[in-house]
Amino acid sequence: MKTMSKITIGLVTAALLFVGCNESATPATNDGVGKTVTEESLGLRKTDLYSETTETFGDKARYNTAAAGTSKKIKRAFQDAPPMVPHDVEGMLPITIKDNQCIACHDPMVAADMGATPYPSSHMTNFRAATAIASDGRISKNGVATDNTSADGLKNVSIKKQSTLVGARFNCSQCHAPQSGDALLVENNFEADFTSADGATASSWNGTKLMEGIDTTK
Ligand code: HEC
Ligand code: HEC
Repeated sequence: MKTMSKITIGLVTAALLFVGCNESATPATNDGVGKTVTEESLGLRKTDLYSETTETFGDKARYNTAAAGTSKKIKRAFQDAPPMVPHDVEGMLPITIKDNQCIACHDPMVAADMGATPYPSSHMTNFRAATAIASDGRISKNGVATDNTSADGLKNVSIKKQSTLVGARFNCSQCHAPQSGDALLVENNFEADFTSADGATASSWNGTKLMEGIDTTK
C-alpha cells in the first residue's frame, strides 16, 4: 500500500511537470500565430529547399563585354574603394608572374596613351617592413627584433616609395573585380559619404593623404 501511494504520487508529480512544461512551451501571447516563415524567404535562394530551378540560382552574373577602351567606368563604392573593373577581362585572367596584361595599360608610364586610369602612388609604395630572421631565430622588422609581429602594430609598417609597382599590388584581381551590373541578390541601400568632391571617380589616397594618421617614419 505504502509503495502504491509512492508510485501514485510519483505519477501525479510527473503529470504535473509534463503539463507545466507544456504550458511554458506555449507562447504567452498569440502574436505571430498564423504567420508563416516560408523556406523561400529564409535565404538568398528564392525557391523552396527541394527545387533546383533557374530561379534557385537567381540572376546570372553578366560581366561587361565591352573591350578595354570602350567601357564606361563604374562609380566607386565609397571613398578610396578599389574601383571595379568596367571592361572585359577575357584572356587577361588569371594574372601570372609572366603575364600581367593589366600593367601593360595601367602603368602610369603608358596609361594616358591607352586612355586608362594609371595605378595610383599607393601602388608604388611599399608598406611592408623589411623582415628578416636574426641568427637567434627571432624575427626582425626594419632591423628591430620582435617577438610578436602583430602586437607591435605600426612599428611594423614602413612607407617606402618607389618608382615601380610594388609586389604586394601585382595581383590586381585580388582587389579589383569585374562587376556584374544587373545581378542583384539583395537590394543595396548603402550610400557612400565621399570625403572628396570627386570621391566617386578618383582616388584621393596619395601625397600627404597617404600618410594621414600613420605614425611611422621608417
Ligand atoms: C588594353 C588596355 C587595358 C588592359 C589590358 C586592362 N585595362 Fe583596365 N582599363 C583600361 C581603360 C582604357 C579603362 C578606362 C575605361 C575604358 O575606357 O574602358 C580601364 C579601366 C579600368 C578600371 C577602372 C578605373 C577607374 O578609374 O574607375 C580598373 C579598376 C581596371 N581597368 C583594372 C584592370 C585590371 C585589373 C586589368 C587586368 C585584369 C586591366 N584593367 C586590364 C584599359 C586596360
Ligand atoms: C591590395 C589591394 C589592391 C591591389 C592588389 C591592387 N589595387 Fe588598385 N587600388 C586599390 C585600392 C584600395 C584603390 C583606391 C585607393 C588607392 O588609390 O590606393 C586602388 C585604386 C586603383 C586605381 C584608381 C586610381 C585613381 O587614381 O583613381 C587603379 C587604376 C588601380 N587601382 C589599378 C590597379 C592595377 C592595374 C593593379 C595591378 C597591377 C592594382 N590596382 C592592384 C587596391 C588594390
